[in-house]
Amino acid sequence: MTQTTGQTAPTGITILGATGSIGASTLDVIARHSDAFRVVALTANRNVERLLEHCRRFRPAYAVMADSPSAAALRERLRDESIATEVLEGVDGLATVAALPEADCVMAAIVGGAGLLPTLEAARCGKRVLLANKEALVMSGAIFMEEVKRSGAVLLPVDSEHNAIFQCMPAGFSAGYEPSGVRRVLLTASGGPFRTLSLEELDGVTPEQACAHPNWDMGRKISVDSATMMNKGLEVIEACWLFGLPPERIQVVLHPQSVIHSMVEYSDGSVLAQLGNPDMRTPIAHALGWPERIESGVSPLDLFAVARLDFEPPDMVRFPCLALAYSAWQAGGAAPAVLNAANETAVQAFLDGQLAFRAIPEVIEGTLSACDTAAADSLEAVLDADRRARDHAGRIVGVLAGSGVS
Ligand SMILES: NC(=O)c1ccc[n+]([C@@H]2O[C@H](COP(=O)([O-])OP(=O)(O)OC[C@H]3O[C@@H](n4cnc5c(N)ncnc54)[C@H](OP(=O)(O)O)[C@@H]3O)[C@@H](O)[C@H]2O)c1
Repeated sequence: MTQTTGQTAPTGITILGATGSIGASTLDVIARHSDAFRVVALTANRNVERLLEHCRRFRPAYAVMADSPSAAALRERLRDESIATEVLEGVDGLATVAALPEADCVMAAIVGGAGLLPTLEAARCGKRVLLANKEALVMSGAIFMEEVKRSGAVLLPVDSEHNAIFQCMPAGFSAGYEPSGVRRVLLTASGGPFRTLSLEELDGVTPEQACAHPNWDMGRKISVDSATMMNKGLEVIEACWLFGLPPERIQVVLHPQSVIHSMVEYSDGSVLAQLGNPDMRTPIAHALGWPERIESGVSPLDLFAVARLDFEPPDMVRFPCLALAYSAWQAGGAAPAVLNAANETAVQAFLDGQLAFRAIPEVIEGTLSACDTAAADSLEAVLDADRRARDHAGRIVGVLAGSGVS
């Protein structure tokens, strides 16, 4: 990272998923350090208005819309305003800006499996990869970590829990290697908006209720994942890859206040924790500045206002998605990719009003038991498993919707 002394060139950054919640927080932190960072490229899917606003403000050399008609619309709007940003499109455009020589650093903040290819491209090119897109690691952890090690990419976790664990790891720790002296990690979970609801009460919950997280302001997909606790399941798999640990050394701890973002327990009994207000600008600033510390705009933690910290074990019966994620990891091969694809399909159906909240794990379980999960030894095998799982999950959604179970 270049410091704000003006001595060296600013760090070039590509932000994949710039119009989302993580994208907005990243741009907020970068704007506080305009002499240290230069925005090289920004990407989105269809949100032309938001990307146009970012282009006006940050003047990137490139903007990418994954959706082709949206790219045409953005190109026209930028031309009308005489902004010189070049517009690329599609998956190829995303991969191109992840690999640009002038981008030292890539923030991977596309939601879902759509983030896999550009994030992997950034790893292949040896970038400093700021990883928010946990789904990429869940789908293809072995391939992804191999590319990181081969290329010498620096992988820095942005997910608040994994960033906290990274901060508590021994000095010199690198992602993907088993840390020395660590007994286990304690992965905290808020429990989401439905932590205290009974099974019966979970029956009628709506997308709006699921997206109203008590502590975090996030995109809609991760908000639903947080409500089903699949988010924690995906994070357990993410943690296995990032910290070189088996799942039995990753303990999920419900902590409703979201003040401790996770902990590392050492063999001598020491437990190190990272605390802070629940604001993603802290882990983002940590990853942007690493190994230095930079200002994030987050207000100081007021422990007197917090007053108490509570902890509970997770309830796998009310939240079966967590158990499904553990079993997908144990099954290995393409099972985590199938789990992820089925979850994305089910969550979208829930958000679209086609599926009941409690039918989400049913779709995932049905897809995991029906799909071949044997091989994930190549990117093609992972993408094939992803496609087949989406098709199968879509069919289950169709049946449930038709039968009135949804
Ligand atoms: N939000 C958080 O606090 C948080 C915390 C930890 C981890 N994460 C992880 O960070 C990632 C982003 O989460 P978020 O909450 O920021 O999501 P979000 O607000 O929904 O934003 C998603 C971003 O991805 C883009 N996108 C969606 N589909 C795409 C596609 N098919 N191709 C290319 N781009 C696509 C969106 O573009 P459009 O706007 O054009 O649709 C948007 O820029 C997720 O993997 C999530 O698990 C988020």
